[in-house]
Amino acid sequence: MREELKKELEVHEVAEERFFYSPLIDSDKMQEDARHGMAEHHEMDELIEELDDTDMSSPHWLATAQKLVEKVEHHLKDEEEDFFKKAKDIYSSDEAESLAKSYGETVAEYRKAWPEAIPGK
Ligand SMILES: [Fe+2]
Repeated sequence: MREELKKELEVHEVAEERFFYSPLIDSDKMQEDARHGMAEHHEMDELIEELDDTDMSSPHWLATAQKLVEKVEHHLKDEEEDFFKKAKDIYSSDEAESLAKSYGETVAEYRKAWPEAIPGK
């Protein structure tokens, strides 16, 4: 279960940074949001690493797992309620469709390649 969660989070992060955040870094309107989203990915990575380094029987493990759950919930809320809506002003519907398709294909590819062959991980 832990490995499955870690895999899904990492695959989400890498694919999304490639097809959503990186192209937005060059836009004036969403540069801050893109940086914010990627910083949250980084914070999630740090919590995953902390969990890996902590014994599951320690109270610190549970506290860290709770922090990770809260961080992920907050991050998904930012993306779904804010960033994805704002991006509709930047991308045409054709562009958005094409990016979503590339994202989906890449997620599938990265799931198969995880953890050895994911670029940037
Ligand atoms: Fe994300």
